[in-house]
Amino acid sequence: MPAPAEAQAFHASLPEYAPTPLTELPSLAAELAVGRVFVKDESSRLGLPAFKALGVSWAVHRVLAERAARGEDAGAVTLVSATDGNHGRAVARTARLLGRRAHIFVPKGVHPDAVTAIAAEKAEVTQAPGSYDEAVRQAAEAAAAPDAVLIQDTAWPGYEKVPGWIVEGYSTLCVEIDEQLAAAGVSAPELVAVPVGVGSLAQAVVTHYRSRPSGRAPALLSVEPEAAACVLESLTGGEPVSVATGDTTMAGLNCGTPSSIAWPYLHGGLDAAVAVTDGDSARAAGDLAALGVSSGPCGAATLAGVRAVLTGVGAGERRTALGLGPTSVVVLLSTEGTAANPYPAVDR
Ligand SMILES: Cc1ncc(COP(=O)(O)O)c(C=O)c1O
Repeated sequence: MPAPAEAQAFHASLPEYAPTPLTELPSLAAELAVGRVFVKDESSRLGLPAFKALGVSWAVHRVLAERAARGEDAGAVTLVSATDGNHGRAVARTARLLGRRAHIFVPKGVHPDAVTAIAAEKAEVTQAPGSYDEAVRQAAEAAAAPDAVLIQDTAWPGYEKVPGWIVEGYSTLCVEIDEQLAAAGVSAPELVAVPVGVGSLAQAVVTHYRSRPSGRAPALLSVEPEAAACVLESLTGGEPVSVATGDTTMAGLNCGTPSSIAWPYLHGGLDAAVAVTDGDSARAAGDLAALGVSSGPCGAATLAGVRAVLTGVGAGERRTALGLGPTSVVVLLSTEGTAANPYPAVDR
């Protein structure tokens, strides 16, 4: 099922909405020995330096509409969430714009500037001592209070509706890519690379590309940090598993458990999965910066991942398996700018 057109119409109605750039980078196409490479640049989306507000704005809109339909006083509601940085900042911004309160739980390892940015949106910030998964549990507990509602971008059995709306919101990004590729003379890409934390964005991407009535379906590649490769581990074992996460500059991808509603899409819809190091991501961020694209560690992870898959030992077999040739079109999702998560890139 494709995402409903209502989500795109809703985004288009927001005052700060504009499609983000899809930038062609011929030097990367030459390096990767493919036809064309495009980067979807989410460094400025609805006034924030990451793609996350697409999901949050639509989900909060749906939540408040449901509460209003039930006659509940939406004005008193507090939006509660755990975050690796970008999602919580989007929840805090959305709450502020709507005159609601926000309470955001932040695990360790999130860049201090990202935490400051959440507090600057007038949200209450609770620093959770453990991992992202533990922060999610704390946020869910806090959201059990009256007039609190959990706006979480990952699902588990019994908590699926809001994350489902968040995934719907992300689809706007894919619709924009379709329009932008068409304007560039491309009917469909051959490969799309997605950075993955819990897999909600990847769920949106799989849903979008696997529900096309006609045309070629691109190969879909997930990219995770080596320190938190829960989707790679799950795909390898054939069932969803949690992994112990470590430290990584790719904070937005530092998640130990795939979203329960994403898993069937990831299992059935991804063609390949790869894990990259912080060093690979920092080098990719430096290269993208040199080409004029602002990409934070999570955003640049996709270039690092595509490099790992399309070059080096065994690249020929991997390219064949993915159906790629010298004229193929590759799309990299760069989901955050450097301002979202300002770890230094490697200068080139
Ligand atoms: C910048 C960035 N990219 C990608 C992701 C991954 O999204 P998901 O957790 O839905 O896989 C996140 C999640 O927080 C993020 O902040």
